[in-house]
Amino acid sequence: MISKDTNVVILTGAGISAESGIRTFRDSNGLWENHRIEEVATPEGWRANPQLVWNFYQQRRRQLLEVEPNQGHEALVRLENYLENFLLVTQNVDDLHERAGSKNLIHMHGELAKLRCESCHHVETLMDEEHLKETFLSCSEGEGRLRPHIVWFNEMPMGMAEIEKALSECDVFIAIGTSGHVYPAANFLHTAKRRGAHTIGINLEPPENVHFFDEFFQGKAGEILPLLVEKWTR
Ligand code: APR
Repeated sequence: MISKDTNVVILTGAGISAESGIRTFRDSNGLWENHRIEEVATPEGWRANPQLVWNFYQQRRRQLLEVEPNQGHEALVRLENYLENFLLVTQNVDDLHERAGSKNLIHMHGELAKLRCESCHHVETLMDEEHLKETFLSCSEGEGRLRPHIVWFNEMPMGMAEIEKALSECDVFIAIGTSGHVYPAANFLHTAKRRGAHTIGINLEPPENVHFFDEFFQGKAGEILPLLVEKWTR
C-alpha cells in the first residue's frame, strides 16, 4: 500500500511521547500536570498570572532534558527516510521528533525549546541552564519580555498553509496518539478523506473520530509503529 513515491502526511499527538514519560493531556480530568488548561494554556492565563505560567513552562522545558525519543519516534524517521514525499505535523511541543532525526516537521502548536519576544516577536532557542530558571528572560534584540513559543487556546496554529497544501496532495494520512478533540488538527482526517487519501489511525484508546479511519490499530505507538514501518518499507 505504501511505496517510495506515496505521498504521506502524519499527524502526531501527545500519545507518541507518552512512552518517553511525557504525560498526555486528557488522561487526568482536564488537568495538565495539576493545572487547569485555561490557567496555563491561554493568553488570558498569561495576562492574569504570568509568573505561574512562566514557572509551569519552565518545568515542562526542564523535563525535556530528562526524556528521550522512543521507538515510535524512531520508526517515523525510518519511514521519512524511505519516502520521497513526507510531512510530519505534530501537536506536541516537545522536541523528541527532531531529536530522533525527523526533518520535514511542523510543530503546529509551537515548541517548548523556543521563546518569543512579546514586543518584537523575535524567536530564540534557549535551553541552557540559565534559561530554565523562574526569573523572566528578556529578548536579545531589545527590551521585551520573552514568553513561551507555544500556541495557546484562542491563538492561531503555526504552519497551517503548508499543512493544508500537504493534506490536499496526500495519498495516505496517518494520525498517531491524538484524541481528536482539538481543532483544527482534528479536521485533518476529514480534509485528507475529501482528497481521497487512505486514512490510518494508531492510538491506545479509540479516539473521538475512530469511525472515520479506513484502518485503525489500537495499542501503543512505540510497539505498533515499528512493525507497520517495517512492513511498509520492506
Ligand atoms: N500510544 C498511542 N496512543 C497513546 C499512547 C501510546 N503509548 N498513550 C496515550 N495515547 C493516546 C490516548 O489514548 C489519547 O487518545 O494518545 C491520545 C492523547 O490525547 P490528548 O492527551 O488529548 O493529546 P492530543 O490529542 O495531542 O491533544 C491535542 O490539546 O491540550 C491541547 O495543545 C494541546 O497539542 C495538544 C492538543
